[in-house]
Amino acid sequence: MIKVSPSMLSADASRLGEGLLRLERCGADWAHIDVMDGVFVPNITIGQHVVRALRPVSDMPFDVHLMIVNPVKHVPDFLSAGSDMITLHVETTENVEDALDMIRDGGAKAGLSLNPGTSIDSILPFIDMLDLVLVMSVQPGFGGQSFQEHCLGKIKAIREVVDDKGLDVDISVDGGINRDTGRRCVEAGVDVLAAGSSLFGADDMAEEIKLWKGFSRKG
Ligand code: DX5
Ligand code: ZN
Repeated sequence: MIKVSPSMLSADASRLGEGLLRLERCGADWAHIDVMDGVFVPNITIGQHVVRALRPVSDMPFDVHLMIVNPVKHVPDFLSAGSDMITLHVETTENVEDALDMIRDGGAKAGLSLNPGTSIDSILPFIDMLDLVLVMSVQPGFGGQSFQEHCLGKIKAIREVVDDKGLDVDISVDGGINRDTGRRCVEAGVDVLAAGSSLFGADDMAEEIKLWKGFSRKG
């Protein structure tokens, strides 16, 4: 079944704990936590202190998306803060293999993300080492942007590689996901839908999550 990972970026920042509990009540699978440093992306969001503070609030898996330069420097902090999955950007990481090893040795699942303008060739050499591939379908930095259609082709290409190799890798998509783009991403091959504005802005978040979880590859 499709997993849904709502982005805490769209939660009320003054009440993040309540936002997290709301996701849990609404049937979300993971909580997507967007970490931005104002360098790799223009915005600054939350850091390891907030992850640590949220950890006792819920047992939901924390899907931590690091949009920061030199992520290796901060991985130990995010591990000890209670991250279940840590996703780095291939554009920010010099020695990807060591970085992925550091995450896994720390007991978390390891993910690699790529921007809309980055070729999938940049991540394919590492695909056997991954638990998660996070395809960015907007330029990272802000919620509320429109889905970039060309990313469907990247999703299909990554799906083919994962299936051909028989790998146990979740393919996730992040940016501009709503019930229409989400359904089409699932048809193209994703396992996980990460989304902020359309879930937090939905009339009924629980109903929306239920609908998305019912999407299937065959349409
Ligand atoms: C964008 C973040 C996304 C973002 C998604 O840089 O990585 O996770 O919060 O927000 P929406 O769903 O509003 O595009
Ligand atoms: Zn994200």
